[in-house]
Amino acid sequence: MTLTVKERLVLALDVDDGETALGLVERLKEYVGVFKVGMQLFTREGPEIIRRIRERGSKVFYDAKYHDIPTTVSRAGRMAVGLGVYIYNVHTLGGYEMMVETAQATRREAGKSGGEKPLILGVTVLTHMNQEILKEVGIERSLEEEVIHLAKLAQRAGLEGVVSSPREIRAIRAACGADFLILTPGIRPPWAEENDQRRRMTPGEAIKSGADFLVVGRPILQARDPVEAAQRILKEMEESIAKC
Ligand code: C5P
Repeated sequence: MTLTVKERLVLALDVDDGETALGLVERLKEYVGVFKVGMQLFTREGPEIIRRIRERGSKVFYDAKYHDIPTTVSRAGRMAVGLGVYIYNVHTLGGYEMMVETAQATRREAGKSGGEKPLILGVTVLTHMNQEILKEVGIERSLEEEVIHLAKLAQRAGLEGVVSSPREIRAIRAACGADFLILTPGIRPPWAEENDQRRRMTPGEAIKSGADFLVVGRPILQARDPVEAAQRILKEMEESIAKC
């Protein structure tokens, strides 16, 4: 998949209401290829917000992070096809069977409806987690081993890629090959605040490490000039590609 830098930049619409979200889409759609709708916005606005972003000609990553029994998640995946999302995600910790059934049901539904099949990504380990938090939930493996284990499981189950922190991109690339998609949040340009991101990287470093999609929220949302912030990030991505 050859994508432009714009197509690789995902803006997290972590805002409270649809009006603010759509205002950001209008303002930034020239610079941002994909808009992420997560639980905050979805809980307020429901699926309608996804339709309204699509009406404006933009792609949507529905950050659903599904984690339930295989039947339930695969049915939800079918509904995501109807919504016309470009990407949606599931927790790899839901297991192999859940991911296989979901990938198959999504493919079947897209075939039946003639719609585009969404890319399904598996969430590996959330970026705020560290070794201590993994231990707290009973995982003794090293964080990197856990991420690689889950990425390989997702690949075997037929998902198109994974969501991981920037720190694990290289190891996933090495383990899963060039065609497996990696989407990474935890992006902090050198000029932005760190906030609560623990395993972070600059846009340039993430691209150099092999990420396909970069999810950026607060560095753009909280910038004095969000358009300028997006442009700076695109430029940093481009410079990094030129150096590769
Ligand atoms: O930190 P930022 O505002 O750029 O977050 C963008 C997205 O990254 C959020 O919507 C969230 O899904 C994800 N995130 C994360 N880990 C954090 C904070 C945010 O993965 N610690």
